[in-house]
Amino acid sequence: MSIKAVVYGVGAMNTIATRMLLEKGVTIVGAISRSESKVGKDLGELTGLGRRLDVQVSNDPHEVFERTRPDIAVIAVNSYMADAVEQLRTCAEHGVNAVTLSEEALHPWATSPEITRELDEIAKGTGATLTGTGHQDTYWVNIVAMMMGTAHRIDSVVGHASWNVDDYGPEVAGDQQVGKTVEEFHAWLDGATRPPSFGRNVLDALVADVGLTVKSVTTTTRPDVAQQTMFSKALQREIPAGQVIGFTDVDEILTAEGPAFNFEMSGRVYGPDDGDINEWEIKGEPDLVLSNGTVPTQVTTCTQLVNRIPDVISAPAGFVTVETLPRLRYRAFPLHTYLKG
Ligand SMILES: NC(=O)c1ccc[n+]([C@@H]2O[C@H](COP(=O)([O-])OP(=O)(O)OC[C@H]3O[C@@H](n4cnc5c(N)ncnc54)[C@H](OP(=O)(O)O)[C@@H]3O)[C@@H](O)[C@H]2O)c1
Repeated sequence: MSIKAVVYGVGAMNTIATRMLLEKGVTIVGAISRSESKVGKDLGELTGLGRRLDVQVSNDPHEVFERTRPDIAVIAVNSYMADAVEQLRTCAEHGVNAVTLSEEALHPWATSPEITRELDEIAKGTGATLTGTGHQDTYWVNIVAMMMGTAHRIDSVVGHASWNVDDYGPEVAGDQQVGKTVEEFHAWLDGATRPPSFGRNVLDALVADVGLTVKSVTTTTRPDVAQQTMFSKALQREIPAGQVIGFTDVDEILTAEGPAFNFEMSGRVYGPDDGDINEWEIKGEPDLVLSNGTVPTQVTTCTQLVNRIPDVISAPAGFVTVETLPRLRYRAFPLHTYLKG
């Protein structure tokens, strides 16, 4: 029987994922969003499919889950556990598995331990699995972890990646501080409310994958600033020269056992000559290099959100992170055919 999914958040990512879900034989039984411009509309029309799906967007997740009893919620709403807890708790309480794009959910045990423990307990109680995936899953964690597996000794793992803020919706542009002045940026950075960097969760997943012990963690962040007037598609407005177009984080984890992990990641509004990069270098015996050229991050975010669904449904209950899931596989057949049992 086909997998029943609820699309949670009807923005840029879930618009793409909706088509992919349908093309992989998933039945979309519900959709949840927030704004008046979306609630009450048909998901097919809102996501540009050119046909009705007879799925009306609702702003009441409890009612949707009770009525439709989905196998999974496909969440693309926000980035950080402090916000994501609302959607994940609702899924867990209803016993609904959830796969989310929230970046911190990739490996949130160190950055949001209380929230993660709470969600893990609720999910274990109701038999649901909660997992954060997205572009990071393969490109920044599992492909790197596989390359690490080919080393005899690792001294350091160093990654460089960039992505275009304008591939995503306004939620992301806001998080990346696009359109702020440099002074506003530094006030945000120095304030108590700066959430964890996405790269930190990536490194936590890599370190956890090989069972090493975190000795120290540092994050440094610099604003990326427009050199000339740029147009942000996500915000639908111009960003004058001198204003922030995103930022670059450099995260570093030193481990008690020796290997050092370092990841520089830039999320900014691109100029005409920019493209997504993904490059990793391992120093040790032997030295190893991985370079993906230009990566279509926007699409590989949604393909992984969709292709992970059978793994998440089949995983044990609780908060389960991607380095513990099976290797991500191409799904040539409808997703329900990959379910165990
Ligand atoms: N892991 C990854 O690789 C990856 C990649 C891309 C994006 N992301 C993350 O995924 C999130 C979504 O990205 P996007 O580009 O799709 O953003 P977006 O276009 O801004 O869409 C966000 C959607 O969430 C809805 N929403 C917000 N708060 C809600 C709430 N409390 N209840 C229900 N719906 C709510 C919004 O509803 P309304 O429009 O109705 O207000 C909107 O439909 C972002 O935080 C982004 O950072 C992760």
